[in-house]
Amino acid sequence: MREDARDAANRVNEQRLWQRHSEMAQIGAIPGNGVNRAALSKEDIVARKLLLSWAAKRNYAISADGIGNLFLRRAGTDPNAEPVMTGSHMDTQPRGGRFDGIYGVLAGFEALEAMDEAGVTTRRPVEVVAWTNEEGGRFAPCTMGSIVFTGARPLNDVLEVTDNEGIRLKDALAETLAATPQVKPREFKSPAAGYIEAHIEQGPLLENAKKTIGVVTGIQGLRWFNIEVFGKTDHAGTTPLALRKDAVRDAIAIINALTELTRDAQDVTRFTVGRMLVTPNSPNSVASHVLFSVDIRHPDLKTVTRLGDAVEALARKAAQFCEVKVTPTLHDNPCAFDAQVAGAIENAATKLELPHMRLASGASHDAMYMARVCPTAMIFVPCEKGISHNEAENAAPADLAAGARVLTAALIELANR
Ligand code: GLV
Ligand code: MN
Ligand code: MN
Repeated sequence: MREDARDAANRVNEQRLWQRHSEMAQIGAIPGNGVNRAALSKEDIVARKLLLSWAAKRNYAISADGIGNLFLRRAGTDPNAEPVMTGSHMDTQPRGGRFDGIYGVLAGFEALEAMDEAGVTTRRPVEVVAWTNEEGGRFAPCTMGSIVFTGARPLNDVLEVTDNEGIRLKDALAETLAATPQVKPREFKSPAAGYIEAHIEQGPLLENAKKTIGVVTGIQGLRWFNIEVFGKTDHAGTTPLALRKDAVRDAIAIINALTELTRDAQDVTRFTVGRMLVTPNSPNSVASHVLFSVDIRHPDLKTVTRLGDAVEALARKAAQFCEVKVTPTLHDNPCAFDAQVAGAIENAATKLELPHMRLASGASHDAMYMARVCPTAMIFVPCEKGISHNEAENAAPADLAAGARVLTAALIELANR
């Protein structure tokens, strides 16, 4: 390992990193030690301002693109060199924890500060990015910021997406961008020389294996749909069942059919209906409309393709009374990360004498999209009992710092290539 990489890794400050997590966890704090900081919400704006205040103290150049992805740049010595990027997201699930997402942003920021304090110079700039709307809990789909940044979908495609209250993403985004006028606008698709994302594992493998560092080899495939069922509202007491167009009854039939489709004795396939909006949502009115989400995942391309491709026809067949509309909202094939970036992470973990192992990610991340445009890999650190998307999410300060050390060393390695 380069001497400067080791020096900077040793400057990672566990206490400062933990303190920053605690400060961020206050923004949108909910009972049970959790966080509810929806994308492009008032709380998201407060978190952005806090991050920017830290960046200003360090004189990092700050910019944002048209979907609100925030970039903090530590300059390199070669002004023409493409940056190495790191980061994650600051939004959370509605009943989220203190680490999912924010850890990758704070670990990246800690890496920049450690480089400053070790007096390290790199040929390439190193940039920390806070992606907008990684969770997709408020506005579907997830990983939206990196989808738009990498050009996988145009900004226009997502502007009309609405949340459960009918607020358009376009309006929430305009409010968010207006709240930080000091930020310089920046283009989508700006080139990067590499990307490393640090994250809690969100599963139990590292903890069970007593490893501190996960070298992530890739992410499983993921298909998302919105399914809408169009019925007719009627009186619950008077309308004979035979005359009803009950959107809830058909929604349940569709969900049962999809449960059968995704049944898997190996328990590898993931199938989730996590969001459901019922109209008019009254106990004594037959439902006129149901919108629900479908999330299907599998590590194998053939399987996830077969399952995702079967959804629409199956939903139509299962509905007995109502019209059905199926809208795909995300189509991610399984991705394999870059061997050289994974190698740099593994090498850093080895040299820093941290127990590590290779593993694949069950959760999705912005690294999925960055992997399409530049050499990419991820670092995982353990989280307690693998619990995530839950207020009880927990991670040890020493493990978070260990991940930041590996990140710092690997970034310095890549930023001098
Ligand atoms: C990200 O939170 C995911 O759904 O995997
Ligand atoms: Mn996350
Ligand atoms: Mn998440």
